[in-house]
Amino acid sequence: MTYPPRVADSLPEGYLLIGGPPDAEHYNRLRDLAGLGARTPEQATAGLHGAWWALHIVDDAGIPVAMGRVLGDGGWYFHIIDMAVDPAHQRRGLGAAVLDALLTRIRDNAPPGAYVCLMADEPGRHLYRSFGFEPSLPASEGMKLVLKPLPGDAPPTYGLRTRERR
Ligand SMILES: CC(C)(COP(=O)(O)OP(=O)(O)OC[C@H]1O[C@@H](n2cnc3c(N)ncnc32)[C@H](O)[C@@H]1OP(=O)(O)O)[C@@H](O)C(=O)NCCC(=O)NCCS
Repeated sequence: MTYPPRVADSLPEGYLLIGGPPDAEHYNRLRDLAGLGARTPEQATAGLHGAWWALHIVDDAGIPVAMGRVLGDGGWYFHIIDMAVDPAHQRRGLGAAVLDALLTRIRDNAPPGAYVCLMADEPGRHLYRSFGFEPSLPASEGMKLVLKPLPGDAPPTYGLRTRERR
């Protein structure tokens, strides 16, 4: 299927879409509310500055209620993460608006032929399919690894330190 099979033409009244991620506190609040689980403050702070692009939606009180982010190389490979909508604001089209804006950003800023992937949890599958995503199996299977500290590991430095290693 070719994108866009559908377009979220407008946000429901009272919401505002803002480029960039929410701050780390609201990021973790949204992840927690949406059932994705909060990250440590170190992970949230470092991660929020590492994305290729991000956006969030605020309600009429200015509180972030939806977000999405993209990791990418800027050329062809893009990975959508952190799709989350506060349950009190779900089923109003905010998730579709976030995904639409992320895909539009990629289409507008990457050469044609971008490869966009994501890990699809059950609540998002219908949404992703409606935008043209399809399972990567059987050709490719999504895999994951959570790196745990090893005994004797030095304290984390939260970033590459290539210059120090020379
Ligand atoms: C997935 C999520 C981002 C969708 O946000 P949303 O604002 O409710 O989505 P929308 O209102 O834009 O709805 C988009 C479509 O998804 C469907 N949908 C929304 N929530 C759904 C759910 N929990 N289960 C099944 N379908 C759902 C809607 O029916 C709609 O389809 P339609 O246009 O054919 O009616 C939101 O449910 C969420 O944050 N879930 C918890 C976190 C999560 O699982 N994120 C995805 C990680 S991969």
